[in-house]
Amino acid sequence: MPFRTIIEPFRIHSVEPLRMSTPQHRKKAIAEAGYNLFALHSDDVMIDLLTDSGTGAMSRDQWAGIQRGDESYAGSPSFYRFADSVRDLFPFRHVIPTHQGRAAEKILFSAIAGPGKAVPNNTHFDTTRANVEATGAEAIDLPCAEAADPAAAHPFKGNMDVAALDVLLRKRAADVPVVFVTITNNSGGGQPVSLANLRAVREVCTRHGVPLFLDACRFAENAWFIREREAGQHGRSVRDIVRDIAALADGMTMSAKKDGLANIGGWLAMNDDDWAARCRNLLILTEGFTTYGGLAGRDLEAIAQGLREVVHHDYLQYRIRSTAYLGEALTRLDIPIVQPTGGHAVYLDARALLPHIPPLRYPGQALAVALYEAGGVRGCEIGTVMFGRQPDGSERPAALDLVRLAIPRRTYTQSHIDYVIEVCADVAARAAALPGYRIIEQAPALRHFTARFEPLPAQ
Ligand code: F0G
Repeated sequence: MPFRTIIEPFRIHSVEPLRMSTPQHRKKAIAEAGYNLFALHSDDVMIDLLTDSGTGAMSRDQWAGIQRGDESYAGSPSFYRFADSVRDLFPFRHVIPTHQGRAAEKILFSAIAGPGKAVPNNTHFDTTRANVEATGAEAIDLPCAEAADPAAAHPFKGNMDVAALDVLLRKRAADVPVVFVTITNNSGGGQPVSLANLRAVREVCTRHGVPLFLDACRFAENAWFIREREAGQHGRSVRDIVRDIAALADGMTMSAKKDGLANIGGWLAMNDDDWAARCRNLLILTEGFTTYGGLAGRDLEAIAQGLREVVHHDYLQYRIRSTAYLGEALTRLDIPIVQPTGGHAVYLDARALLPHIPPLRYPGQALAVALYEAGGVRGCEIGTVMFGRQPDGSERPAALDLVRLAIPRRTYTQSHIDYVIEVCADVAARAAALPGYRIIEQAPALRHFTARFEPLPAQ
């Protein structure tokens, strides 16, 4: 390629307005929201980097699919197009649609976990952990050692600690219904897992007779990293790499709101007939019949087409490059981020940027609030607010205190990101003056969604 600029591989076809606002307006809005960014009206947000989940732009062909959606209660052709599209990448015997990823988790863990059981994962996402724990089982994170150091530039920091998995399964294989690997490792910084690591995990699982499942939300981004970074993978097609990943697993949970390029949806897939029968029975209780699982036929069409688009190399090159663009600019400004830049997000290291705020005063929350007040940029704390509360109600610092700036797919342009970079620089220059927070109201589980906070007086 003779030119350096990697352009968006699309033109804009329909636009939605961004509401401009002032710092004064935003300070009032966030105070009214109890300093919880989830409680804001999104009209009061200018650049919304809260999540990459369901917030992307659909393509012309996905909107065309929406029109083709067939809303038959049972056996809709939209279901068969969806299932074929899933199986083209993940050829599991049973494909069970759900309304989003956590519904797949809830159904699977209700069917196979429970008191006394343990589910290891490289790192559980918050809903995954909560759904494991809701059955009375234990959720165990086994990230590789490099994951603990935000500054370490390891190419596959999402990897699982295979030796630790082996130790766990030697002791407790009978308690472990399934081993999970999350690709990419969202809570660990959007970092990829290598094919070599997945093969090693598979080998340990096979040796102990335990099935391996993928939490595959960002499978295409993970596969692109494998293609770019793993020895022997360069130049391969992403579709083939995804199929290699799928061949190592016995099943998966999926949120189609990420690499399904859809606004809603998910699925559960597996090879085991008995587990699938149990899951389908639970599906009918809460989600719907087995050929729609809580989705409209048109949603199934959007996912079917999204899965065809997400493995395009032009798309993935643009996607990963545009996230790296933000990460590289922040690094040049000496703003600490999790290195290397992840696939769907840049993670600011709030603990390093705000050393005057101890973890139990929530440096991630402090930074997220400051970014919103300064520029209307909404990120998401991933740290002690999200993970600090223990099942017994006590509190301890999370491994890291991060603020995630998640990039919705195909939604913001480079000038939006240039603006985000300026806002980050402004807040970083004033970091030492930012206050910590305390929680004044919280729910017993997943408290970060609804907690109310109060700023502490400056030290
Ligand atoms: N697993 C991972 C790794 C996720 O990132 C998510 C969602 C889920 C499971 C659950 O999927 O939202 O469809 O129910 N992550 C979003 C995020 C919410 O912002 O990272 P869901």
